[in-house]
Amino acid sequence: MCGITGYVGTEDCSSFLANSLKNLEYRGYDSVGVALLDGTLQVNKQSGQIDDLSLPSTTEATCGIGHTRWSTHGPPTDENAHPHTDCHGEISIVHNGIISNYGDHKRDLALTHEFTSDTDSEVIAHLLEEELVDDTDLPQAVRKVVEKLEGSFAIAVAVAGYDGIVAARQDSPLVVGHTDTAKFLASDITAFVEQTRTVTFLEDGDVAHLTEDNLSITNDGAVVERDRQTVDWDADAAEKSGYEHYMHKEIHEQPHAVRQSLSGRIDSLTGDVDLDIDAPIEYWKSIQEIQIVACGTSNYAARYAAELLETHTNLRVTVHVASEYEYRTSYDPWETLVIAVTQSGETADTLQALRMAVDSGARTLAVTNTVGSTVTREVDQTLYIRAGPEIGVAATKTFASQIVTLTLFTIHLGRQRDELESETATELLKNLHDLPEAIQTVLDGESQVRRLAERFAHSDAFFYIGRRLGHPVALEGALKLKEISYDHAEGFPGGELKHGPLALVTDQTPVIALLTPGSEPDEMAKNIKEVQAREAPVIGIGVRGEASETLDTFLGLPNLGYITPVLANVYLQLFAYHIANEKGRAIDKPRNLAKSVTVE
Ligand code: AGP
Ligand code: GLU
Repeated sequence: MCGITGYVGTEDCSSFLANSLKNLEYRGYDSVGVALLDGTLQVNKQSGQIDDLSLPSTTEATCGIGHTRWSTHGPPTDENAHPHTDCHGEISIVHNGIISNYGDHKRDLALTHEFTSDTDSEVIAHLLEEELVDDTDLPQAVRKVVEKLEGSFAIAVAVAGYDGIVAARQDSPLVVGHTDTAKFLASDITAFVEQTRTVTFLEDGDVAHLTEDNLSITNDGAVVERDRQTVDWDADAAEKSGYEHYMHKEIHEQPHAVRQSLSGRIDSLTGDVDLDIDAPIEYWKSIQEIQIVACGTSNYAARYAAELLETHTNLRVTVHVASEYEYRTSYDPWETLVIAVTQSGETADTLQALRMAVDSGARTLAVTNTVGSTVTREVDQTLYIRAGPEIGVAATKTFASQIVTLTLFTIHLGRQRDELESETATELLKNLHDLPEAIQTVLDGESQVRRLAERFAHSDAFFYIGRRLGHPVALEGALKLKEISYDHAEGFPGGELKHGPLALVTDQTPVIALLTPGSEPDEMAKNIKEVQAREAPVIGIGVRGEASETLDTFLGLPNLGYITPVLANVYLQLFAYHIANEKGRAIDKPRNLAKSVTVE
């Protein structure tokens, strides 16, 4: 999920690799490393910052690969940093993404190979070691390894005694840069934008062999030609893969983020879920209550999940704004699981609430995006959402990944407690499985949302209404808009309109109404009539049906059952983004806000 870089050419590459890793720094990382080839293989790697990595300033190496790691499997330690090597220190690999079947490979390989890290990635080096015993053609051997891998990956390989670098991709980006005397490899152009803007984008299934003067690519065993393109991005645009803002890029990364959250965790046939949480079944049966502590967007994702948890586990589930937790009602800690939901894993209010739960003796679980963060060190168990680094202050892809991961947890718990039928679990899993593609269809409809944003950018205030699962999404939609556009925006349950907010509704206040399954569209139709009677413009978002019929402005969605409101949220993110963009706001760094709120 973080950064890969590589060079093969005529010059010493150690300073290029260090510089290109620096260029990839903006993607976020926790560890760094390089492998240099000058006849033998030299690997330098460690957890921490690029500036702390000691690299020889000059070497004879004219080929090398580098990596910034955002941990998904194993904490950010020196051993877990990439590159990883085979048993003889001759094969080096770097990997971004997740190898979802690494457990099976590791079990087999561990009989004859020595593993030195906790990562999923290391199996690639040992699988390649096996292949190279019989096959001395490196690209061919990498192809055979890749055929054995499931999950998402961008991989680069450099092996002592072999010419050049071999790269492969599935669901994670890789781009090759060309000059007359060298080839460059990277996760994005930023890494080598000072050297060249002539590039070839690799596609899913490609295995590429880069040598000083040649790039050859195969896909599914057949040789393929890929165009060379010249990009006119400057360094800033390159960092954002051509998007103007990180937030926009991260909204568009959601299909990938959701795939990563699901990767290797689902058995769609049985309806079972494997989450690597090792509590005995008796424990899951013994709890009576779940309390969730979280702030902001994480709190809204938790509210969404709480509804699913309560329905499918037959437990009492309450969600607390973390800073209010100390005023909570009493509970029996021995029968209660306390879950902290936090993207950063560093939010002071959430940590403070969690510590109170720990002190009371309750069992605890963290749901976070950040391996090795403070929250993970203070809980009994951790569940990673695997969304990849999020740079924009406004949380976007992590909201979707939090809900997906908590839905998987719901299924796990429901099944363990015998409260969830396998058919219902299978249906939920099917909806989750179809979510990435459905998000893509919403993203493809972006121009429609941009036009709406242009139309409403001048409005005084915005109201978001939804019921049940639509309610937390209404809250999240309003939070996103206020955060980045500085417009007044409020979300509330549709039924609450007539108890107060209706007084503010005029023809100048757009009302965004959620009409998705799980959001009681028929009940919502009544609320829509209430605001239409005050001449408020209404934007409906949902699955087409009776309720959408009376609306001039309606954004249609595919039906993914109780997961559909997550799709509606993607429209809300785009709506907020384009309104803020119309107003020229500092979208990635809104005034007065920080990405990680480490003060109470
Ligand atoms: C979201 O857009 C906000 N920036 C903010 O509400 C955020 O969700 C909140 O501070 C919680 O952060 P966490 O998930 O890292 O704990
Ligand atoms: N899953 C790998 C690890 O945890 C790669 C993570 C990344 O993409 O940086 O080491």
